[in-house]
Amino acid sequence: MSQKLRVGILGATGMVGQRFISLLENHPWFEVTVVAASARSAGKTYEEAVGGRWKMTTPMPEGVKKLVVMNVNEVEAVAAGVDFVFSAVDMSKDEIKAIEEAYAKTETPVVSNNSAHRWTPDVPMVVPEINPQHFEVIKYQKQRLGTTRGFIAVKPNCSIQSYAPVLTAWKEFEPYEVVATTYQAISGAGKTFKDWPEMVENIIPYIGGEEEKSEKEPLRLWGEIKNGVIEPAQEPKITCQCIRVPVLNGHTAAVFVKFRKKPTREQLIEKLESFRGVPQELDLPSAPKQFIRYMTEDNRPQVQLDVDYENGMGVSIGRIREDSIYDFKFVGLSHNTVRGAAGGAVLCAETLKAQGYIQPK
Ligand SMILES: NC(=O)c1ccc[n+]([C@@H]2O[C@H](COP(=O)([O-])OP(=O)(O)OC[C@H]3O[C@@H](n4cnc5c(N)ncnc54)[C@H](OP(=O)(O)O)[C@@H]3O)[C@@H](O)[C@H]2O)c1
Repeated sequence: MSQKLRVGILGATGMVGQRFISLLENHPWFEVTVVAASARSAGKTYEEAVGGRWKMTTPMPEGVKKLVVMNVNEVEAVAAGVDFVFSAVDMSKDEIKAIEEAYAKTETPVVSNNSAHRWTPDVPMVVPEINPQHFEVIKYQKQRLGTTRGFIAVKPNCSIQSYAPVLTAWKEFEPYEVVATTYQAISGAGKTFKDWPEMVENIIPYIGGEEEKSEKEPLRLWGEIKNGVIEPAQEPKITCQCIRVPVLNGHTAAVFVKFRKKPTREQLIEKLESFRGVPQELDLPSAPKQFIRYMTEDNRPQVQLDVDYENGMGVSIGRIREDSIYDFKFVGLSHNTVRGAAGGAVLCAETLKAQGYIQPK
């Protein structure tokens, strides 16, 4: 590709915004040309606006340090400098809904990390290995918005990435009942231990809104487009508990599954290891080569050892074994701010670009 697509990051100074900035350093297709945040940061250089809030373990990329932060609310001005935007602003749900639609209406595609539009019926919510066909609903969304190239696409919640891909790989065995407990990292709340010292040696048994998202969002991934909207699947029924644990990055899930067609343990492992999707077929820049790996050691996956598997874009699974009440149980691990947030959105944008939905303006 001769010319990179120009991308803006809404909420660039935040935890997820910083992750976008890091992942897009030296990206072969996309170049960050605009960074935008609240009025508090607007007018400062990115380096000044972030100040001591840089939370990545790698240094701030030189290319963004001197960019002057724009105000997210100055939609026309931001849109003028980009071919599309990633959204990671933290505002109220209604404000996010409105601002993302305003960007789409300037003919600027929005690939969002936020939950505001995850249930808007004609907005695709995509994990590219699971349901890239949902991008086809964009044509109906454009009709509603009155746009030719502007639209909104979103990625799902971070907590489901440790089990939804697994259940997808096992679809032919018809999983119908799932119990999942997720052990979620503090970066999922935009925090480090420095900002949240109460989490050291602690567990908090509540994450607002997370259990409902963890139970319902997988069903939308497995849904179908009917009459111009995405209709969620009805099964498997999922019940969840979501627990905050003293881990910086990495959401672990402990999961029990009942199947209508009983598989063997060997079949379950084989389905995980052979699971491939569009990102692997197209060899997209951020695609993990092996999306789901199965680890045979009894004490894996472990956050410290395994969270960065495939640069944080792969999912590690272990401990598949028969259960005395359910059919099988397993443990899954994924990186919540890479695969579960910014990285998942970058992979969506790469898929959208490869399929012609995002082009230079
Ligand atoms: N952290 C995760 O793992 C994760 C995963 C999935 C989804 N999310 C979602 O992603 C979003 C961002 O999360 P985060 O953890 O990155 O939050 P964060 O660290 O608090 O960052 C929030 C960003 O939004 C900007 N912002 C805040 N209020 C604004 C306003 N009124 N107008 C314009 N910009 C405003 C901030 O700019 P200033 O710096 O100028 O204040 C900052 O850039 C949230 O909606 C969150 O729920 C997070």
